[in-house]
Amino acid sequence: MSGQTAPEDVRGAADALRKALGACHPRIAITLGSGLGGLTGRFEERDEVPYSELPGWPLPTVEGHAGQAIFGQLGGVEVLGLSGRVHLYEGHQPARAAFYVRVLGALGVPALFLSNAAGAIHRTFQPGDLMLLADHINLMFRSPLVGPVQPGETRFPDMSSPYDSALRSAVKEAARELQVPLREGVYAGLLGPTYETPAEIRMLQTLGADAVGMSTVPEVITARALGIRCVAVSCLTNLAAGVSPQPLDHAEVLETSQRVADEFERLVERSVTRFVTEGSLA
Ligand code: HPA
Repeated sequence: MSGQTAPEDVRGAADALRKALGACHPRIAITLGSGLGGLTGRFEERDEVPYSELPGWPLPTVEGHAGQAIFGQLGGVEVLGLSGRVHLYEGHQPARAAFYVRVLGALGVPALFLSNAAGAIHRTFQPGDLMLLADHINLMFRSPLVGPVQPGETRFPDMSSPYDSALRSAVKEAARELQVPLREGVYAGLLGPTYETPAEIRMLQTLGADAVGMSTVPEVITARALGIRCVAVSCLTNLAAGVSPQPLDHAEVLETSQRVADEFERLVERSVTRFVTEGSLA
């Protein structure tokens, strides 16, 4: 059992989304993590389609994840926002978590800006910080690419530069321009759904992780297999277990992401404008 997605399901969802998009041709898709969906309020000429109207599209069940594709202009750029994603801990195969990325591939969307909520491991990182992903560690020990090679993908994708250097530079420039503090570090993707133990966080620290979360990795793996360029920002919603003596809960995660939502939104908006004006999406 490969758990792989059928190419005809991807085509079916892509056809439905293309129809919904009408004259909009997104130059970048933006995946909105827990509590970060407010970005779509900044879209102009905004329209939306619920995931439930896109055949085969997995429906999120977690609080803070809306479950719709919202499109329009952000900072003068045609974008597609994906508010809500599914996670492996909900019982989905990695290929289901990455289903939407294959739809983006079928639509020819060249770049993907991912966001997520994550716990801060690096000693100097604080709740409310934004962290640009320099790299990731796949500790889900599963891959969305297991099984037959899917259309447009390669068997052994290169992962030496999962996060695009030109797009990352543009995000850093945007942060400087806006005076939004931006950390940079390595994201460890774990299966969840428990938060980590203090011993696990010490292990992750030793492995070189600066932040920890339960998403993003399957999507980036799939995007790279398709040649879609990726950039990602974590909203560090809490100190990881054991870094702080306090127990963790999802309410804190949502509360912090809402607190920094405005900074996050301004950063993404300015970044996508820069991607286009600097020609890094060409
Ligand atoms: N661990 C894992 N995932 C998370 C965390 C965390 O501390 N915070 C938000 N998502």
